[in-house]
Amino acid sequence: MNGVHEKGNDSPPDRLVDRSDRHLDYLRVSITDHCNLNCTYCLPFSSQFKQSHRDILRYEEILHLIQIFSDLGISKIRITGGEPLVRKEIFPFLTRLHEIRGIDDLAMTTNGLLLQDHLVKIKSAGIRRLNISLDSLNPENYHRITGHDVFQKVWEGILAAEKLGFHPIKINVVALRGINDHELTDMAKLSFSHPFHIRFIEYMPIGDSAMQPENPLFTKEIQERIASLGELYPIQREKMDGPARRFRFKNAIGEIGFISPISHHFCQTCNRLRLTASGFLRTCLLSDHQTDLKTPLRSGFSDQQIAHVILNAIRLKPTSHDLNSKQAAQIASPMSAIGG
Ligand code: 5AD
Repeated sequence: MNGVHEKGNDSPPDRLVDRSDRHLDYLRVSITDHCNLNCTYCLPFSSQFKQSHRDILRYEEILHLIQIFSDLGISKIRITGGEPLVRKEIFPFLTRLHEIRGIDDLAMTTNGLLLQDHLVKIKSAGIRRLNISLDSLNPENYHRITGHDVFQKVWEGILAAEKLGFHPIKINVVALRGINDHELTDMAKLSFSHPFHIRFIEYMPIGDSAMQPENPLFTKEIQERIASLGELYPIQREKMDGPARRFRFKNAIGEIGFISPISHHFCQTCNRLRLTASGFLRTCLLSDHQTDLKTPLRSGFSDQQIAHVILNAIRLKPTSHDLNSKQAAQIASPMSAIGG
């Protein structure tokens, strides 16, 4: 990658390098805004944004766009939703995605509810790395948070994924005061008995679910709360690492990660782009600005013209978000439409 471009020049760069010299090589692709859970902090069912069938990109269209992104330098793809496993015919799509030249890392974020039924197909399609949302280990609390009494099924799916050799399995825990904060130590303890990466995520006030906790739970406090389990040793960062700061307890087989979008934002190293299910490119999770790729695609733009639209959009990638603990993001779209 040569990233040939001059800042301030009118012709766009030929690769995905933005004005802050961030090399964007990671695309998160939401393939549906539908979900089979209804988590209090995400609330896809309440959303007026649910897309009609026509608005959603067809698999063929997603693959076409990903090929263009890949030619521009995207090498890592994560499939998200809503819940990706609720979309029909996902497996032939994943298999074709795996075959796209230039994509060398394919991962998926799921709530795990349909995992058990589909693990073998997920593996055959080339996905090795799974992020699974799990905000509680207590079936009743899980029910309260997600609106569904399905903890056992999700947990069995996670264990089955471990058995089948998926690695790493990252467990995403959104830390919410008064909701699951009494379980943080139990969640962290899982890293002693399973090779999971337990990742504590600060809640981001996004969409119409935006709760504005008086007293938000930040990483520092989470660390203090789980300190009773022992000292956390930092793990050397690796190239593929996302925004999580990684640690391990002595004698643990798994890891602990902290994702702190509010208290310790990581905008300066952000290498991500997002493609929404309806074909919009978002260059920042915490900005409503988006660029329509579906219309150019459906009106017969050439690949080169679409690449230009993409390259122009990344020029506008915000240098940093200014969300802090005291405000809700002025983001109208629910997380289920953006893909987290
Ligand atoms: N704040 C922080 N994390 C969130 N997620 C969904 N909504 C929010 C939010 N408002 C997490 C989910 C999922 C990941 C994609 O994003 O738990 O694991």
